[in-house]
Amino acid sequence: MFTPETLTDIRAAFPILSRKHNGNPLVFLDNAAGTQVPRQCIEGFVRYLSESNSNTHNPYVTGVETDAVIANAHAAMADFINAPDGASVILGPNMTTLTFALSRALSASWQPGDEIILTRLDHDGNFSPWHLAARDRGVTVRVVDINTDDCTLVVDDFERYLGPRTRLVAVGGASNMVGTINPLKQIIGMARAAGALSFVDAVAYAPHVSIDVQALGCDFLACSPYKFWGPHLGALWGRRELLDALPAYKVRPAGNELPGKFQTGTQSHEAWAGLIGTFDYLEWLSTRVPASTAKLRSARASRFRAVMDAMQAYERGLCEQLIRGIQAIPGSKVYGITDPARFEWRAPTVGFRVRKGAPEHISTTLGERGILVQHGNYYAQNLSERLGLEDGGGVIRASITHYNTAAEIDRLLEALD
Ligand SMILES: Cc1ncc(COP(=O)(O)O)c(C=O)c1O
Repeated sequence: MFTPETLTDIRAAFPILSRKHNGNPLVFLDNAAGTQVPRQCIEGFVRYLSESNSNTHNPYVTGVETDAVIANAHAAMADFINAPDGASVILGPNMTTLTFALSRALSASWQPGDEIILTRLDHDGNFSPWHLAARDRGVTVRVVDINTDDCTLVVDDFERYLGPRTRLVAVGGASNMVGTINPLKQIIGMARAAGALSFVDAVAYAPHVSIDVQALGCDFLACSPYKFWGPHLGALWGRRELLDALPAYKVRPAGNELPGKFQTGTQSHEAWAGLIGTFDYLEWLSTRVPASTAKLRSARASRFRAVMDAMQAYERGLCEQLIRGIQAIPGSKVYGITDPARFEWRAPTVGFRVRKGAPEHISTTLGERGILVQHGNYYAQNLSERLGLEDGGGVIRASITHYNTAAEIDRLLEALD
């Protein structure tokens, strides 16, 4: 949780939060599409571009500084997910691009008749890269269904589909449309017991739950820093021995070594400098929340854990306020878990419908009033189809992060009402 002073200081760290539109302060509730960034992130960009802008491996001062930015960004990212090994994190343009690269590398050894398991809950970034790789290799795709009443995964389906030919289970950490948090440890354990690899799409999970890839036991995990107060980037972690053994498509003379393995061409070094700034912000915030006693790979990893735990506790209250408020509007429907006793299994990403008005009309009208929410299927197309929402324009989505306030949730609820 945060004290009121801490919340004030948090908000002051994000310059864009003071912006007004049509005379109204903007309410940023489309955080699942991308969060805003703190001053430290912006300063990281400015400092890098003002002082150190260069390509890599150059024998002069700005080149050396650029190489240091690359190393520092990867090391901080490793702390954020408690990776056992700093070199096993790969930064890239976004999760989707990295996942396509990984899917090509992994599927190179798949044989016709092999199987993979995907889910209907996932964003298409954790569906199509695997689905297309399976098509190319003659591999069978099994799709885990959802319980439509609360948008949770039918976990028994994993048990049903896992077998000696299963090569991979790709599962999301949290739904970006309805907020469901999946029982990752259980699913990863099932995959491992069956001899299959596990890939976790943590894009919608990382902004809300601290990640410990070692405790999860997964083989690969991807996330996107632009969803957790950083620049537009993606990150992929994998078990070192697996990553080392995988082939990657590269141009000569670029080597296959980590962390450059799935990086092609020149990267956004300024964004990596910005990401270091984001992690500096989290370090600052760690001085304002209770310390974590978890034994992690470094003191910085423990500070990140403390911050994520405090955010999770704070966001839970706002999520309850939002869901209660929507449910009080006659004819409304919230998708996913709504019982606060089960909020351990939900992120504060709330997909809903109200009786009057198509989602697009509602989000556009709210936008005119300075309340920023989205409408549609958010690339969770399989889920939207399964829930029968595609024809009606999907759902309205209000997604909370730690800089939102109870007063902002009230403003959304009043406008909806
Ligand atoms: C759950 C989830 N997975 C994957 C993606 C794709 O991420 P990226 O834009 O980094 O490719 C998103 C983006 O919204 C997402 O929410």
